[in-house]
Amino acid sequence: MKRISAFLLVATASVVAPACDPGVDGPGDNNTDPDDPTNPADEWNKKLDARKPDYNAALRIASLRLIGELPTMTQINLVANAADDAGKKAAYEGLVDSFLADPRFSRQMMVYFRDLFRMGGTVNTVDLETAPAFAASLAVANDSYMKLLTATTGTCPTFSAATNTFTAANCANNVTTHAGVLTNPGMNAHFTSNFAFRRVDWVQRTFNCQKFPADLSETPETYGGKLYTGKFPWLSVAGKTNGGRVDFHDVQSVVCMGCHNVMNHIAPLFANFNETGQMTAAIAVKTPLGANDLARATDFLPAGEPFAYRLGQATPDLPSLGTAMAADPEVARCAVKRFVNWAQGKEEITTALTLVPDTVIQTQTEAFVASGFKIKDLIRGVFTSDDFVKF
Ligand code: HEC
Repeated sequence: MKRISAFLLVATASVVAPACDPGVDGPGDNNTDPDDPTNPADEWNKKLDARKPDYNAALRIASLRLIGELPTMTQINLVANAADDAGKKAAYEGLVDSFLADPRFSRQMMVYFRDLFRMGGTVNTVDLETAPAFAASLAVANDSYMKLLTATTGTCPTFSAATNTFTAANCANNVTTHAGVLTNPGMNAHFTSNFAFRRVDWVQRTFNCQKFPADLSETPETYGGKLYTGKFPWLSVAGKTNGGRVDFHDVQSVVCMGCHNVMNHIAPLFANFNETGQMTAAIAVKTPLGANDLARATDFLPAGEPFAYRLGQATPDLPSLGTAMAADPEVARCAVKRFVNWAQGKEEITTALTLVPDTVIQTQTEAFVASGFKIKDLIRGVFTSDDFVKF
């Protein structure tokens, strides 16, 4: 069944016209644009309005996603034989609730978070299951999504596939104060790289739904004839002229600073994890300069420059990074977009060409924030939304 989904239509419309096109939506739009997804007379919106609920089609998808199996004949008939739309809706929503309470939902959440985190199983004797298990256990307990960034204890539970249950456990990787999955040994081992940049990239993609560059300036500056779009001052990052050995100020091919202005302010926070994800007393990540050449603090940032999530948001340690991220509305919106995409079988968001506009997920996001970021409530909201049950 081909779903006409609000965000797909909006996304298609906005991909066709570049962001600077006056016909595209945005602040100050006068709504006379025929392709305007916020205009009720718009052709796309007429198509959206013409969608009808199909609770049996929705049930099939919800059952596959939430418990990993097709609905039973009894469940199908419960919805199909309800007298009217209101009855079908009630029957459908009751079944969604039963799926969310089913032990098999735990297994589905493990699959979801292994995919999202791009890790699982055991690789080179490092357990890559604990971060997905922590996330899945939060979902099953209808706990706060933001604990993925802020929880200080119990961040390395185990999952039993035989019983679909979690066993609480702390991570054992010498971290003084944990910060959800940011301090997870599996994550830090799996995404180890020169300068710890791959860990930073993972955090950005996973929780902000975007690749670097992040946090662009509205007033780009010019260096060596090229545009620098970052917000951090040029010399707040290390380069050949201010103490670094890799030239992050280089503009020959690309403007390194476009991405590295933010990345270099975060990466030192992850630099003391070694390649098995153990926290160590000194920087444990290497550079491309020599086979065993460890990075130095002054390769990232000039001496005295504070570590920071974004310009003006100093984060001296990983718990404060987690707290800053948990307070970032983009992180909340990203969580909602990912669950909506998953429900509707869309491609992973940082690799997909179609973006999910903030307006399309606004109601879900407001409910998510108001609930204290409860994961199961969000999932219920997504699977019972008009956009999901209408075709
Ligand atoms: C579009 C964003 C972007 C730009 C521009 C960029 N980088 Fe990076 N850089 C990254 C990301 C993301 C990673 C981590 C990649 C990974 O390991 O998965 C990275 C990794 C690195 C690494 C560690 C990996 C390695 O190859 O040793 C170095 C060093 C580096 N970048 C230097 C530079 C320099 C110098 C420039 C400019 C010539 C530059 N980068 C331009 C995003 C960028």
